[in-house]
Amino acid sequence: MTKKLFIKTYGCQMNVYDSVRMADVLAPLGYRPTEQADDADMIILNTCHIREKAAEKVYSELGRLRQLQEKRTQEGGRLLLGVAGCVAQAEGEEMLRRAPQVDLVFGPQTYHRLPEMVTRVLGRVSGASGLVDTDFPAESKFDALPEEAASQGAAAFLTIQEGCDKFCTFCVVPYTRGAEFSRPVSSLLDEAKKMVATGAAEITLLGQNVNAFHGEGPDGKTWGLGRLLRALAEIDGLARLRYTTSHPRDMDDELIEAHRDLDALMPFLHLPVQSGSDRILDAMNRRHTAEDYLRIIDRLRGARPDIALSSDFIVGFPGERDQDFADTLKLVTEVGYAQAYSFKYSPRPGTPAAAVEDQVDETVKAERLAMLQQLLNAQQLAFNQGSVGRVVPLLLERKGKFPGQLVGRSPHMQSVHVQAPDRLLGKIVQVEIEGAHANSLSGRVQTDIFTSDHDMAAPSREIRTA
Ligand code: 5AD
Ligand code: SF4
Repeated sequence: MTKKLFIKTYGCQMNVYDSVRMADVLAPLGYRPTEQADDADMIILNTCHIREKAAEKVYSELGRLRQLQEKRTQEGGRLLLGVAGCVAQAEGEEMLRRAPQVDLVFGPQTYHRLPEMVTRVLGRVSGASGLVDTDFPAESKFDALPEEAASQGAAAFLTIQEGCDKFCTFCVVPYTRGAEFSRPVSSLLDEAKKMVATGAAEITLLGQNVNAFHGEGPDGKTWGLGRLLRALAEIDGLARLRYTTSHPRDMDDELIEAHRDLDALMPFLHLPVQSGSDRILDAMNRRHTAEDYLRIIDRLRGARPDIALSSDFIVGFPGERDQDFADTLKLVTEVGYAQAYSFKYSPRPGTPAAAVEDQVDETVKAERLAMLQQLLNAQQLAFNQGSVGRVVPLLLERKGKFPGQLVGRSPHMQSVHVQAPDRLLGKIVQVEIEGAHANSLSGRVQTDIFTSDHDMAAPSREIRTA
């Protein structure tokens, strides 16, 4: 019998990938994805713990879902409620205590055990206490996940690496996702080929520390990300490659050379720096200086002159003074970002920085964030405006809000709206950029005579500065 599965995904792309794979493992039990929470037989919240009040937000969402669950029970049905992801990992048993209506609590490393867990829960009476599985098991979930994966469409995600051993002092990831682990190259190549066979023209490689990748190669040697990208670029029909999220310390020569040599590797890199102050970078345990970061950017631009950059920033890290913040603004001005994310520091329980006494006042954090965002927004708009008049290859990924509208991504990760027939979905077309906004562009399809992904894939290589 077909049952309906609704997964609500919070946070990063790793969670997006995990949600797709959860749907894959549950398919043999008869669960099919639905877009509607109201008529689902199982709802999974795939949660994120990276920033403030994450757990509180999950508990209030669970409160709302309890009503839906009770209504279903009154109607003689049953709605299973699962909590996955990093909040589930961090809360564990506590989650069942605070939200007893939850049936399943499982972490990012155990969702391959979902069929067994669901079967066990369904064998119990409704209302029995839920199951918790937040292990870091010895077996890899990737070996246990079904080989047949649902199509992710034209732009697919592939998790190649998980966890982190860097222990930045503000970050929960090493605790929620565990130690660093890289998947073997041959299984990644197989999965990528299947993605292309089911319609992917672009694959984004994912990992909390993706460029720390060190997977076992088919030759028995350890491969880095640069080498993996080279092998992936050979796959017929795979026009575009991206990877996220990287750490500056792992931008090695091989990876920078991949940016020089591979047309399929898109000229856009999210490379978080967090702060421009060496004192704060040290306190964050980032293990690089602002100067180290700027040199990496120089080398990347030397290898791929049209590369556009993105970053994450934290303002108000404990001990951050006006001068440290000024150093961050200086670094932003020097780099010139195409886009960026910025956050107020929020203490995560259990992380070293949360225990530091010298916490920055909330109003100071808010002021600094506003100033930084003003600068970053101006850079983003200038970057987008610089695209007007250019012809760029666009991978048309989805329908837009308006009839006849499709939305695609430029090589530089900009969202571009065009008028185009649905048959072009999943294809790469040449588009002239006509309008620029803060967060998106609009353009006109130059030709819809589509040849092949490869013919249209090479992005324009003009030099640009934001
Ligand atoms: N407070 C604020 N921002 C944080 N990030 C991670 N942990 C924290 C925290 N405790 C931000 C970092 C990271 C991004 C994913 O989230 O900038 O790169
Ligand atoms: Fe967190 Fe990234 Fe630092 Fe790892 S490298 S601890 S994931 S911020």
